[in-house]
Amino acid sequence: MRKGLIVCSLILVSGLFLFTSVQAGEQKWCPLCSMNLKMFWKTTNWLTFSDGSRTGYCSIHCASKVYQKRATDIGRWEVADYDTKRLINAYKAHFLIGSDLAGTMTAVSKLAFASLDVAKRYQKEHGGTIGTLDDGLRRAIEGRGEDMAMIKKKVAKMPAMGKKLAGKHGCYKCHGEGGTGGAAIDWNTKEFAKSMDNRVKIKKAIMGGTEKMEGYEGKLGEKELHAITIYVWTQRAK
Ligand code: HEC
Repeated sequence: MRKGLIVCSLILVSGLFLFTSVQAGEQKWCPLCSMNLKMFWKTTNWLTFSDGSRTGYCSIHCASKVYQKRATDIGRWEVADYDTKRLINAYKAHFLIGSDLAGTMTAVSKLAFASLDVAKRYQKEHGGTIGTLDDGLRRAIEGRGEDMAMIKKKVAKMPAMGKKLAGKHGCYKCHGEGGTGGAAIDWNTKEFAKSMDNRVKIKKAIMGGTEKMEGYEGKLGEKELHAITIYVWTQRAK
């Protein structure tokens, strides 16, 4: 009976979380690296700009790039609380930097907490130092060179994987073997590179489909989609 209750409330709580995160995340992918925001929810940062628009980024790593270019244009800055998963005011958050917990797009994680006590509890177990948003940003900017090298290594196998997956999902039936053009557009043309000039556009086209191509929504998992997208991206004409 008790067990049933716990399971029930777990389902309720996770349902609630899913609901709130989907609501806040009408945007599916990070505009800079095209990673799925729901998958990396715990490290997302949401910036509201002076024109009132609001954009989510997978991590402080990607958000720091926007900060460097448009610092004065950023108003509200929300970040996910690593513990509660709720979006909180980043300017008041406590960032646990460099613990042994995994970050997103970085070897040195910078995880946000609304409560200093909770941040300290995590620090006790996982190490790291506690700082402010500014400290997190500074580390993200300083460490970018190393992070990019790590990411490059991590994604090195992705195009080969994506190439295989695209075959498995029948893309080459229309786009030609390897995407070199058949009945449908060659992924290595200037025309394609011009219209598909960022990876989110490619993901949207694949999932949503086009006039002549049925969308893959519900047929491709996010990891498959990501690998295929990276393959398609590497095929673009330079
Ligand atoms: C039934 C044939 C068919 C299949 C299968 C197919 N495509 Fe397409 N695709 C097309 C056509 C035709 C276009 C040209 C765009 C248009 O005019 O609709 C296209 C366009 C695209 C575009 C560019 C959209 C744009 O607006 O320029 C991308 C990206 C793409 N396909 C990727 C894929 C991937 C990845 C797969 C497999 C997961 C795939 N396609 C499977 C026919 C197909």
